[in-house]
Amino acid sequence: MKKGVILLGSSNSKGDTYAVSKYLSDRTGYPIIDLKTKNIGPFDYEFKNSHDDFLPLIKEIANDFDLIIFATPVYWYTMSGAMKIFFDRISDCLKTEKETGRKLRGMEMAVLSCGSDSELVAGFYMPFVESAKYLGMNYLRDIHCWVEDNKIPEVVKQDLDKFSRLIL
Ligand SMILES: Cc1cc2nc3c(=O)[nH]c(=O)nc-3n(C[C@H](O)[C@H](O)[C@H](O)COP(=O)(O)O)c2cc1C
Repeated sequence: MKKGVILLGSSNSKGDTYAVSKYLSDRTGYPIIDLKTKNIGPFDYEFKNSHDDFLPLIKEIANDFDLIIFATPVYWYTMSGAMKIFFDRISDCLKTEKETGRKLRGMEMAVLSCGSDSELVAGFYMPFVESAKYLGMNYLRDIHCWVEDNKIPEVVKQDLDKFSRLIL
């Protein structure tokens, strides 16, 4: 069994993306790390944010897990700002934290998106797929979810059940 972690990038720690992430976590046993509980500043060319929570977090992930599930809401047709900042900060690993960058190579990636619409705009997963390629990570699969009246629709639950089995 893989050692997976769900990285939650929502602006709402108990919102819809959390609800579907929790469903996934219950089925896989993979823990959720909530980016909202972390103090992670934007990428800075002078690495002025290098003492925030990013480096300890990426080191923990690279050392303790072999699969990252990026769980992001759809905000303005793309990933959340928090998730984008996390990806931008991976650049730190390519410049000042090369050992951690090397550890990402060979890890696996999957993506969970959550929007208000059951349809997802074309190309939504492209930045994840291309980042995985660039980092030498193996892109496993993705799943799009939505929540209706604070409930996960049956069809989404069925998709999540299948997704869970495929990323174990
Ligand atoms: C700033 C913002 C932008 C949004 N943009 C989109 C969008 O482009 N497409 C979409 O389907 N839903 C969009 N939504 C709706 C959210 O994706 C949806 O409500 C989702 O379930 C919210 O998840 P959360 O509770 O984890 O934030 C947007 C919501 C917000 C707050």
